[in-house]
Amino acid sequence: MQVAIVGQGYVGLPLAIAAANVGHHVVGIDTNPKQIALLLRGLSPIGDISDSDISAVIASEHYRATDNFQSVSTAEIVIICVPTPLDSAYNPDLSFLESALKSIAPHLTTDSLVIIESTVAPGTTRNLVAELLTKSGKPFDLAYSPERIDPANSTWNVTNTPKLVAGLSEQATMRAVSFYRSFVETVTTGSSLEVIETAKLLENSFRLVNISFINEVAQFCAALKIDVREVVDAAATKPYGFMPFYPSAGVGGHCIPVDPKYLSSKADEIGVPSRFIDLAHEINLSLPSYFAGVATGMLGSLKDKKILVVGIAYKPDVADSRETPAAGIITALRTAGAVVSWHDDFVNEWKNETSAPLTDTYDLAILVNPHTHCDLTLLATTPVLNTRGGY
Ligand SMILES: NC(=O)c1ccc[n+]([C@@H]2O[C@H](COP(=O)([O-])OP(=O)(O)OC[C@H]3O[C@@H](n4cnc5c(N)ncnc54)[C@H](O)[C@@H]3O)[C@@H](O)[C@H]2O)c1
Repeated sequence: MQVAIVGQGYVGLPLAIAAANVGHHVVGIDTNPKQIALLLRGLSPIGDISDSDISAVIASEHYRATDNFQSVSTAEIVIICVPTPLDSAYNPDLSFLESALKSIAPHLTTDSLVIIESTVAPGTTRNLVAELLTKSGKPFDLAYSPERIDPANSTWNVTNTPKLVAGLSEQATMRAVSFYRSFVETVTTGSSLEVIETAKLLENSFRLVNISFINEVAQFCAALKIDVREVVDAAATKPYGFMPFYPSAGVGGHCIPVDPKYLSSKADEIGVPSRFIDLAHEINLSLPSYFAGVATGMLGSLKDKKILVVGIAYKPDVADSRETPAAGIITALRTAGAVVSWHDDFVNEWKNETSAPLTDTYDLAILVNPHTHCDLTLLATTPVLNTRGGY
């Protein structure tokens, strides 16, 4: 099939490579010139895709990258994978989605099947998306299929993670299912767009609530000098009715801190409560001051203390620092007078600062999201606060 994938980031690029690898002809469209320049040179901007993955599909002529939306006119399948973040007022920001839809609309044909993969609130595909695309004046099929990719997960990838699909019409559902079945092992349909839009929000809200819960339990355990990781592992021996979540400095990334807000904003709009999500956000936002307090307890005062924060990425083994929990912790430490450096050899540059080496010259090291390869023995006898639990 001729496929256009709009947005070549953490979601769109692995999808493009997976589709190209089974013989579809894929054009990856992105408005970021740096992203396109890298892709044109066969270089991958993300960790889960290697340079050779890209070079191989370019060489086989099953993939090309462009910033030109004209390519949409020859695509049977047009997939939207652009960001759906929060704005400065912490509300859903659909501006990237709206912009992408306006860019593709003039190029749609009567054969086009448009699939939204970006995370959205229930009703968005049927209302906002359909309305904007109808302005193209041509009939088109429309479906929703959320992405579940988990960067740096070596077990679950685009092809073996089950995919959810729902179409605006029966025909749209069948076309989307047929496309995804060509490279995804399990494809499941929902009875409406709204069921699948909400399923995606439920998945990530479930994670936010449970991560925040374990981070509160971690504080309880720390106060009692009980190892929370051992507690979770002990509880996880129960073969049913329990799922382990492990403590951290808080949620991060483009999804877990963001997507639940799409659910709670919709809940506000229709006048129903979403208290678990609100509480989970509150706990998450309280973690920087909690850990600054723990650091103060260890050092007496933070004033002029040299502290190294290890791991700026939002989770170990990725280079993505969006919504990183390290940001709040660094701000809290600096507000208390500490001299803070950070180490992350995947992120390297962040907020006009650069990664500092791991050395034993600090009063304290705070482990936020250390990558697996980090040689923490270089900290030698430096006192360590491990936000991920354990002593
Ligand atoms: N990152 C994840 O782990 C993940 C997992 C599941 C779902 N999602 C969802 O998938 C969507 C995309 O997330 P992502 O992490 O891939 O984002 P990303 O920022 O990595 O990639 C998005 C890409 O879209 C491009 N873009 C922005 N506006 C555009 C436009 N108008 N036209 C063309 N290209 C445009 C950007 O330049 C960027 O390269 C979001 O809705 C996100 O919530 C993300």
